Amino acid sequence: MVGGCRLVGEVRVTGAKNSVLKLMAAALLAEGTTTLLDVPDILDVEIMAELLRRLGCEVTHDQTGGVVAITVPAVLDHRADYDLVRRMRASICVLGPLLARCGAAEVALPGGDNIGSRGLDMHVEGLIKLGAHAVNEHGYLIASTDKRLRGESVYLDFPSVGATETIVMAAVTAEGITVIDNVAREPEIVDICTMLNEMGAQISGVGSSTLTIEGVDALHPVTHRTVPDRIVAGTWAVAAAITQGDITIHNAKPEHLQIALEKLATSGAVITEVEDGFRVVMNERPKSVDIVTLPYPGFPTDLQPQFIALNAIADGAALVTENLFEARFRFVQELARLGADVRTDGHHALVRGRIELSGAPVEATDIRAGAGLVLAGLVADGTTTVYGVSHIDRGYSGFVPDLVRLGAQIIRVDEPH
Ligand code: EPU
Repeated sequence: MVGGCRLVGEVRVTGAKNSVLKLMAAALLAEGTTTLLDVPDILDVEIMAELLRRLGCEVTHDQTGGVVAITVPAVLDHRADYDLVRRMRASICVLGPLLARCGAAEVALPGGDNIGSRGLDMHVEGLIKLGAHAVNEHGYLIASTDKRLRGESVYLDFPSVGATETIVMAAVTAEGITVIDNVAREPEIVDICTMLNEMGAQISGVGSSTLTIEGVDALHPVTHRTVPDRIVAGTWAVAAAITQGDITIHNAKPEHLQIALEKLATSGAVITEVEDGFRVVMNERPKSVDIVTLPYPGFPTDLQPQFIALNAIADGAALVTENLFEARFRFVQELARLGADVRTDGHHALVRGRIELSGAPVEATDIRAGAGLVLAGLVADGTTTVYGVSHIDRGYSGFVPDLVRLGAQIIRVDEPH
């Protein structure tokens, strides 16, 4: 890509990756055909579809219409193999539904990834509380129960997104009442609980820190529209700000991005709501903004690299604190190849804004690092080549064509193996 273009125009955001993968897993809880709408055309959806097929489901994906139909049989296989789990850590989200449906689940342990090691202790402790046995054997987490799971009080030490989902999906058909305290409150969690309730579950407190779940005997399949992807919407918002552009983002919910949009406003952007989204206009060099990532409704870690890119060309210095993932600053070394002035110390990064970055080859190490590097490349002098685009494919559908329509000078080149 060649930097220096102002991005102007309109984009439409699809459903959220971090919701739809879990909605697909939740479909396992009901025999029959569950249909999901507004599904993004991304690699992770394909991996999850393959995983569900191996469990015995029929899965069709109409990419152009964004419709995924999952037909779940009466009897499921209950093993998620390493070859898929290693490609997509989120495969772990089949653990809760498989245990609830089959009384057993064997899921390969995902290990670490490029944003750091990620524990499963809270997932496992929650399932044990509900009456399951769990062991690690030969690289697999094996959970089982000889009778129906039973409702219990569970307290999470940290509002983990994944642990909340695992325990909720296991508890919806448990016997009696489960109360989970200190749960994650992300819009994606609300979306999953909403779909489970549509399927017949009895979850109350959705969107708060405490969920109360009255177990039901069985769930039924439904048709459900996925919540819009707030991280993709936020990435476009930063694209407008960093290029001093003007982008209207459709199918986006500004209330899901409150702190991130306030930060952009502090940086100098003018943000206005439109009927189904919002518009971001930037008419000046952005000003630096400090960021502290926290569980929702705090500033999302998944927008941290994009905001570091913004701060790299902003007026002033910014302190960025990463509280969720230990290795999310790894991409800073790549940003430095574009001339960014960033110093990290533990989970803090000090970013001193430069007037201009300088194009260079860089390597994307994860989805959001990839997005951050593309944004930086848009304002770098000369040509920037971002390698490892398969990471970006995991979370952004049609990213390059959308950038081209907005005026970016960018092409996609297939990488030699
Ligand atoms: N953690 C534990 N033990 C647990 C669970 C979590 O120590 O049992 C720790 C993790 O190691 C991590 C922190 O808690 O340091 C946060 O983990 P959480 O469970 O909240 O996150 P996740 O479910 O692994 C999801 C998203 C991430 C997003 C985070 C935080 C999916 C598939 N992934 O991960 O998305 O950053 O929540 O909002 O939903 C991305 O899309 O690029 C991405 C990484």
